[in-house]
Amino acid sequence: MKSLLKKILPRWLKDLILKTIKLPGLVLSPMFKSSQFLASFYYAFFSSQLSREHKAVLAGKAAYQQSLKDIGETSVLLRRNIHRLEKGLIMQPRRDVFAENFIGETVKIYQRAIKLNSLNPEEKKWVTDVLVEYFKVVRDTKTIAKARQAFNQVLNETKEEEKYIPYPFDSLPKTDIQYEALKKLFIKRRSVRWYQDKEVPSELIEKAVNLATLAPSACNRQPYSFYVSQNKEKAVQIAKCAGGTPGWAENIPCIIVIVGDLSAYPGERDRHLIYIDGSLAAMQLMLAFETLGLSTCSINWPDVEAAEQKLEKLLELKPYERPIMLLSVGFAQDKGGIPYSQKKDAQVLIKKV
Ligand SMILES: Cc1cc2nc3c(=O)[nH]c(=O)nc-3n(C[C@H](O)[C@H](O)[C@H](O)COP(=O)(O)O)c2cc1C
Repeated sequence: MKSLLKKILPRWLKDLILKTIKLPGLVLSPMFKSSQFLASFYYAFFSSQLSREHKAVLAGKAAYQQSLKDIGETSVLLRRNIHRLEKGLIMQPRRDVFAENFIGETVKIYQRAIKLNSLNPEEKKWVTDVLVEYFKVVRDTKTIAKARQAFNQVLNETKEEEKYIPYPFDSLPKTDIQYEALKKLFIKRRSVRWYQDKEVPSELIEKAVNLATLAPSACNRQPYSFYVSQNKEKAVQIAKCAGGTPGWAENIPCIIVIVGDLSAYPGERDRHLIYIDGSLAAMQLMLAFETLGLSTCSINWPDVEAAEQKLEKLLELKPYERPIMLLSVGFAQDKGGIPYSQKKDAQVLIKKV
């Protein structure tokens, strides 16, 4: 019915109807901006624009609680707490008692994870090695002694191989990438929208993702997934869900949807981290593709209900998963055009404080 009306109504009438629908929001929103209460009232009764995010955040909170019981191949609580333990281990000077307020819950979840035998082996090794190191150096208090005892009950020492524990800065690899080389790579990375009709090999996608995963993330939680379609038909279908691809969607050979996972957080305050962490990983992903001879273009994912519903269905997203952005990937056409896209420089961007 909606699409039929869209087709038969004259443009001026469609514009008028749209304006009238938007009018209450336009007129009312300035009146409600003066207090948090009124703003919440506005979004409760006059606009549903934030409702999908609200629902996803609540679904995330519930899924977080569930993840403490049904531990899968990764545990967000363990990842965060082991990261906090590592910060305690490198503290200058290191305290003889630290992490007392969260070591109990950490060991409890660790015990459960070991019982379920579900953790990814690499995550399990990191978690185990750091806990072993922590109990090696920490002084016992009543709480810590109790946690130590619980830990020892399930501990299966990892083999005498490299331990996944803090190390000194000077053992990091030296790099021969200097400013000029990095600048060249950054200049070479442009948003490319015209691709050869050539499949993107899985091997290159995996290589790029293995560099993207090295990006920083808040408390090392890495609350995102990369949904990949190398099937051109499906890639185009996915790309068309976004508003920013008219005219060039049809030539996209591969699409990656970067999806944030709100089940990484017990509360609302960290809800933006999926976008921050996801975007940092996306940037590294793009640069990694460049080094592999592939080009990319970020594609905006605005919060539009109809589009979200379509994408949710295509990717079978969970209620707490939110698309962050799409990335087209492919081998560039040699003569495909690249917008100049002038960049602001340091003089414009730096505000001395
Ligand atoms: C978050 C984000 C969303 C974007 N969305 C689109 C889009 O929907 N369609 C498009 O053609 N380009 C999109 N772009 C690409 C930008 O237009 C491009 O990055 C910008 O013009 C600068 O050009 P450059 O990437 O070549 O440096 C997006 C970029 C970002 C970072």
